Amino acid sequence: MTQFELETDELEQVFQKRIDDEQKIEPKDWMPEAYRQNLIRQMSQHAHSEIIGMQPEGNWIGRAPTLRRKMILLAKVQDEGGHGLYLYSATETLGITREEMVAALQSGAAKYASIFNYPSLTWADIGTIGWLVDGAAIVNQISLQRTSYGPYARAMVRICKEESFHQRQGYESLVVLANGSTEQKAMAQDALNRWWWPSLMMFGPHDAESAHSARSMRWKIKRKSNDELRQAFVDQTIPQIEFLGLQVPDDDLKWNEERGHYDFGAIDWDEFSRVINGKGMCNKQRVEHHKKVHEQGAWVREAMRVHKNKVQDRNQIKEAS
Ligand code: 3HC
Repeated sequence: MTQFELETDELEQVFQKRIDDEQKIEPKDWMPEAYRQNLIRQMSQHAHSEIIGMQPEGNWIGRAPTLRRKMILLAKVQDEGGHGLYLYSATETLGITREEMVAALQSGAAKYASIFNYPSLTWADIGTIGWLVDGAAIVNQISLQRTSYGPYARAMVRICKEESFHQRQGYESLVVLANGSTEQKAMAQDALNRWWWPSLMMFGPHDAESAHSARSMRWKIKRKSNDELRQAFVDQTIPQIEFLGLQVPDDDLKWNEERGHYDFGAIDWDEFSRVINGKGMCNKQRVEHHKKVHEQGAWVREAMRVHKNKVQDRNQIKEAS
């Protein structure tokens, strides 16, 4: 071993001990390069998911059925934008710029949640996104409040509070539809049929197939595995579906007394693989839209750059005089 390798080995041991002792890692602390890169990957993809996730819902702001529903939806979509910004800022503390992250999203080098590559076809989809998609996100994000990287853990606390409101407003909207006219109930069932399986895919591949899980769990970036989180989501959501009087689109779903959990059918991993590799129904549309609005916002970034330079010039003149 070289002196450098020895030193790195020691640093890694101290680092792992801090993680094992439940100490948070902060931006100024030493961290293994692979820990930093893994966090940049996960956190930036999380931020992109929040931002791209504004699109399927934004699509319905102008068509919300009442003023109340429109106000709720507007607030929710704005919250998602805010979550994206917190998460980009938290990721910047790891030494990557916003421009680099946005470039990775637009080139397809960075992923975002598979779920946002499905279209929002009816008003019932909007309630269902809040209920199931934000519901699934919370199950994961509650555990991320205890993630080992300080800025990510702290961002998650506020995000979880807001996601909780999102889930509730979505479910409340579904309660109204499920208790409404025959057509409204059918619309709610149709939305559940289309969003159920993609919601289960949000948790990622099975643990045995998950490329990053083992290391992320050792570093306590992830606190619960993909399968554990998916099972928790299924267990908490089935009673909600029953309360609505809707049918779960899964013939294999049944309560397993011995395990104390619901058993559920096989997920279509071919579909998942197509969607996360750019071949879902809306991948192209989502990224093209992002590029278009990013381009339209270039003048804001330019104005901020000029403003920053002017402030710097003024401060230099003040210091010199
Ligand atoms: N969508 C897209 N890509 C996914 C995915 C999904 N649902 N699940 C897994 N993947 C990708 C991974 O990113 C990885 O690809 P990469 O190597 O190119 O980065 C690959 O599939 C293998 O998966 P792993 O299980 O090894 O990946 P992770 O250990 O990162 O676990 C995860 C996946 C559970 C999604 C984890 O990244 C995570 O917890 N991320 C933070 C939470 C998050 O991103 N949530 C987004 C949900 S949407 C949201 O919050 C918006 C709100 O408004 C609802």
